[in-house]
Amino acid sequence: TTVLLLNGPNLGILGDREPEIYGYDTVDDIAKSVADEVAEAGWQVVAIQDDHEGGLVQAVHAHRRSTIGAIVNPGALMMAGWSLRDALAAYPAPWIEVHLSNVWARERFRHESVLAPLASGVVVGLGAFGYRLAARALLELCGPDPT
Ligand code: DQA
Repeated sequence: TTVLLLNGPNLGILGDREPEIYGYDTVDDIAKSVADEVAEAGWQVVAIQDDHEGGLVQAVHAHRRSTIGAIVNPGALMMAGWSLRDALAAYPAPWIEVHLSNVWARERFRHESVLAPLASGVVVGLGAFGYRLAARALLELCGPDPT
């Protein structure tokens, strides 16, 4: 069982990118933390970072039947990533949108996500820990029934 972790434009330089806003964890640190959370269920993670919207669209297509859920930080594609939105609309499993920063405490252009209406849930403003929370949410939504 595999979870898809997608990070969009400008997230490949996490750790070095405006760390006062985005923190010091790298995209690899984040992938490890998600792998760590889902390991308890015996799940794996396929982690993809792409600066191009088309690469993210292809990643969603490539993994749409082989993953049980997804965690998506679309970066600035949150505001106008219509192709990514359509790819996620065709993604059959639950997915969670994550933003490291509290986008509503920032510039107005970050206040609206074209993706969020399709997400099972959204985690914002909790830094890299937000990805762990999203992973836990997927365990809850897609994991084995505890009864
Ligand atoms: C971000 C927030 C976006 O507005 C921004 O364009 C990013 C990162 C976040 O994780 O806080 O690239 O998605």
